[in-house]
Amino acid sequence: MTKRATFATRLGVIAATAGSSVGLGNIWRFPYETGQNGGAAFLLVYCICVIVLGLPVMLAEFTIGRSAKANATRTFMKLSPGSYWFIVGFLGIFAAVFIMGFYSVIAGWTLEYVWQSISFGLTGKDPAFFQSAFVEFTSSSFRPIFWTALFLLINYIILSRGVHNGIEKASNILMPLLFVLLIIFGIRSLFLSGTAEGLSFMFHPDFSKIDSGVVLRAMGQAFFSLSLGMGTLITYSSYFSENTSLPKTAVTVASLDTVVAVLAGIVIFPAVFSFGISPSQGPELIFITLPNVFQHMPGAYFWSILFFILITVAALTSTISLCEVAIAFLCEEFGFIRSRATQLLVFICFVMSILCSLSFGALSDVKIFGFTIFDFCDFLASNILLPLGGMLISIYVGWKLDRKFVRNELNNHGKINDWYFPALMICLKYIAPVAIFIIFLSGLGLFK
Ligand code: PHE
Repeated sequence: MTKRATFATRLGVIAATAGSSVGLGNIWRFPYETGQNGGAAFLLVYCICVIVLGLPVMLAEFTIGRSAKANATRTFMKLSPGSYWFIVGFLGIFAAVFIMGFYSVIAGWTLEYVWQSISFGLTGKDPAFFQSAFVEFTSSSFRPIFWTALFLLINYIILSRGVHNGIEKASNILMPLLFVLLIIFGIRSLFLSGTAEGLSFMFHPDFSKIDSGVVLRAMGQAFFSLSLGMGTLITYSSYFSENTSLPKTAVTVASLDTVVAVLAGIVIFPAVFSFGISPSQGPELIFITLPNVFQHMPGAYFWSILFFILITVAALTSTISLCEVAIAFLCEEFGFIRSRATQLLVFICFVMSILCSLSFGALSDVKIFGFTIFDFCDFLASNILLPLGGMLISIYVGWKLDRKFVRNELNNHGKINDWYFPALMICLKYIAPVAIFIIFLSGLGLFK
C-alpha cells in the first residue's frame, strides 16, 4: 500500500481546513440567512450553535478521521469492523454530489460577475439594473452553464494534482488573500451612508425576533458553514499529522469561519441600507448589493473584480474539500488512479449542476416534492443529509467508541491538555444529537 499523504505544515492544515469551511456558506448564505431571520438575533443564536454544536461535532470528525487515516467510509469500517456505521460515510458522498450540484452553479455566477466587472458590465448602473440583470442572467440557458463548467474545470486541475501539491498549496495562497480583501472591503463599508443602520441590524439584537424557526435556521447554517456532517472533516483530518492539535485546529477553524461570516455581514449590511435594498432579499442578496457598493468606491473597477474573484476563491477551497470526500473514496475503495477518480466525479457534478442551473429557466417547471431541482439538491443535502450525518457522528463518538480511545486521540496520547473533555462528551452524547435531531425534523418541515 502506498504511503498516505499528509498536509505538510501546520499552516497547511489550518488553511486547507478553514478553506473547506469558509465558502459561499459564509459570504453568500450567511448574509441572506441573517437578513431573512432577524439580523443580530440570528447572529447571536448562530454563535451559540457554533460553540455548543459545531465545535463538538468538528472534534468528533477530527478524532475518527485522524485515528483511522482513511476515507470517510473506510474510517467507520476500520474503527467498527462488521458494523453498519460505514453507511454514515457513504451518505456523505451523496451529500457531496448534491451540494456540488447547486454550489457550482452559484460559483459559476460569481465567475460571470468577475467577467462583468472586467468588461465594464457593472459600471455606472443603478440598483434596479442589477436586480433585472441578475434575473435575466440566471434564467438563461447557456451562459450560467458555461461558467459552471469553467469553475469545475478549475476544480479538476487543482484536485488532480493531489493533496499536497494541489489542495495545500492552493489554500496557503488563497486563504490569506481572501481574508485581507474582506478586511479592506469591511473598512470601506464603514464609511457608507447606511453604516449605522447596517451595523445596528447586525449587532443590536432584538430578542423578540428569536423563535424556534430562527434557532433552527441558525443551527442549520452553522452546520453547513463549518462543513460538518458529511465526512469532509473526517477526510481532511485523515491527512493531519500525529502532532496536529485537534482542539486548537477546531477552535481556530471555527473562529476563522465565524469571523469571515461576520466580516461578510459588515461588508454587505451597511450597503443594503445605503442603497435601499431589502435585507431579506434572499439568495440574490450579494449579487445585487455588492455591485452597488463598488459603484461608490474610488477605483470601483478594480475592487469589483477583486471581490468577485475572492468569492470564487472561497467557493473553490470549499468545493475542493467536497470533491475530496468522494475522490478519496473512489481511489481507496475501487483502486481508481487520482486523475480518473477526479474526472468521473467532476463529470457527475457537471451533470447535476446543469440540471440545477436550468431550474432557474428552462426547467423551472420541473418540481421534485414541490421543489425546483436546485432547491431540492440544497434541501436534501443541507436539511437532511448533513444533519443526519452529524447526528450519527456525534452518537457514534459519544456512545459507540471507547471513551479512552477518544480521549487519547484528542490529547495526542497524553501530550496536550484536555480539560474540556468531560464537557465535550456531554455535548456529543446528549446535546448535539438532540439539537441536531430537531434541525432534522424541521428540515422535513415538521414544525411548519
Ligand atoms: N462550508 C462550506 C461553505 O461554507 C460548504 C461545505 C459544506 C463544504 C459541506 C464542505 C462540506 O461554503
